[in-house]
Amino acid sequence: MFRAKLITATLGVMLLTMYISAQVAPKPTPPVSTAPVSTAPVATAGGRLTEDGGQPVGNNQHSRTAGANGSVLLDNFHLIQKLARFDRERIPERVVHARGVGAHGEFISYGDFSEFTKAKLFSAKDKKTPVFLRFSTVIHPGGSPESLRDPRGFAVKFYTEEGNWDLVGNNLPVFFIRDAMKFPDMVHSLKPSPITNQQDPNRFFDFFSHVPESIHMLTFVFSDQGTPSNLRQMDGFGVHAFKFVNAKGEVTYVKFNWRSLQGHKYDSASEASAATAKNHSNHTADLYESIKAGNFPAWELGVQMIKPSELDKFEFDPLDATKVWTGVKEIKVGKMVLNKVPSNFFQFSEQVAYSPAMVVPGIEASEDRLLQGRLFSYADTQRYRLGTNYLDLPVNKPVVAVNNNNQDGALNGNITDKDVNYEPSTKNPAQNSDPSAEYSQAPLTGKVQAQRIEKTLNFKQAGEQYRAFDKKMQDNLIANMSGDLNAVKDNQIKIRIVSFAYQADIDFGTRLAEATKVNLADVKKSITLNEGVEPTKWKKLAE
Ligand code: HEM
Repeated sequence: MFRAKLITATLGVMLLTMYISAQVAPKPTPPVSTAPVSTAPVATAGGRLTEDGGQPVGNNQHSRTAGANGSVLLDNFHLIQKLARFDRERIPERVVHARGVGAHGEFISYGDFSEFTKAKLFSAKDKKTPVFLRFSTVIHPGGSPESLRDPRGFAVKFYTEEGNWDLVGNNLPVFFIRDAMKFPDMVHSLKPSPITNQQDPNRFFDFFSHVPESIHMLTFVFSDQGTPSNLRQMDGFGVHAFKFVNAKGEVTYVKFNWRSLQGHKYDSASEASAATAKNHSNHTADLYESIKAGNFPAWELGVQMIKPSELDKFEFDPLDATKVWTGVKEIKVGKMVLNKVPSNFFQFSEQVAYSPAMVVPGIEASEDRLLQGRLFSYADTQRYRLGTNYLDLPVNKPVVAVNNNNQDGALNGNITDKDVNYEPSTKNPAQNSDPSAEYSQAPLTGKVQAQRIEKTLNFKQAGEQYRAFDKKMQDNLIANMSGDLNAVKDNQIKIRIVSFAYQADIDFGTRLAEATKVNLADVKKSITLNEGVEPTKWKKLAE
């Protein structure tokens, strides 16, 4: 009898929850919390419990029931709100870079660089700008082990006096592809199979066998640099070319390189798995512990510069994200120090939204076509992931007032009291654009087209990188890459990938061929067969 009543009560709660979810849930309202515009005091630990509306909670231990053994009641609003809020705790994770960790810090300029850029953060020696940095892995999902092989995201938000600048880079200096058109396909090939739900070298090597320029990035990723020992001892790179623009409108093409002041430390594959076995959040733990101990990690920001008139002088295309700017000197313009662990993981590391399109006057995107695709993609995904008003969230909000006529949308927390929400207007005070903040102008020639870049130079820099590695790094690169390549069933894909390594460096290719039991004569034949062939239509050898 008691048991029957218990079941009725339990069923009651379940039905009630289902009813509430059905009533309130279907509309995919973005679960964004509002910015703290209210002057109400912020809750601290302890104290009187309140409901979300601020009302005191009468009982937080027991549901209201009809008598001792009866059903749970619908008028128990505190229970309903508690369950409904719980049901909505997860938001969509980032489609890439889902697993990450952030920290607060500051950037200190080494001098006045106004000769090159009007960006105020670089305008005076010792000028300080607050930053929020988020490190991440790229392919693996939220909660995955942090030591898995992957590039690491290295995204920095600068809260400048002229709005936010986001430098959204990686720990490796180049990228797999050079055109945004290929990005979703590349990510699909790297993510788990839609059938087996497992990451599969058969899929990603199949994709990369059609992308010869990927060998440069693959050389980095399969080296021990693909498994950094921690997040403090690795560099960061903006990867793309950007533009510095000075007050006269003069443009300099730049690459941004963060240089770790902690030095560099990478794990071998076995060290990385051993670290994972101990603690799969080892990188977060290391970062947090080091900051909490006052051992603040720091990076210097190096800038490489090229004048627009010099762009054509290189054997590679300086606007190709698969290339480093070999031979271009690097000037150190400042230092970033991370000095504070965020007070809440979700509100900072999860809700932070970076975008390469977030630039300040004096810094602009170059014509790099991979970067151009990113300019669209980030804000688009963030409106979906976090909601229309994601820039109102404290971690994303600029330190200067936002003044424009964008309005409303779900979870809008900006209290505005103006009637003139348009511009131009005869009413005062007028809103004015600032001509000094206009983007620079650039000359145009040629025709609208969809074609490969002219100077591809797909292999040379991968070879230079292979030769720059010491013996241990080369050995581990061969072992790591052949480890995955040996899982590939189609021998022709293996031959094709080995042919890229061989064209980068004969020793690299020969050793990879040995380790994958690929016949070197077949590799050479494949290279000859595919000379002048469109890479997406590469030809297989006769079986
Ligand atoms: C066309 C090429 C690319 C596209 C379309 C793309 C797209 C995206 C998207 C949709 C996200 C999730 C953003 C979010 O949910 O907030 C993301 C995150 C990220 N991407 Fe890319 N990406 C591209 C290339 C790159 C490259 C070349 C780099 C490095 C230079 C990079 C670095 C990052 C980083 C660091 C994050 C994580 C930011 C964070 O910590 O929140 N991406 N990317």
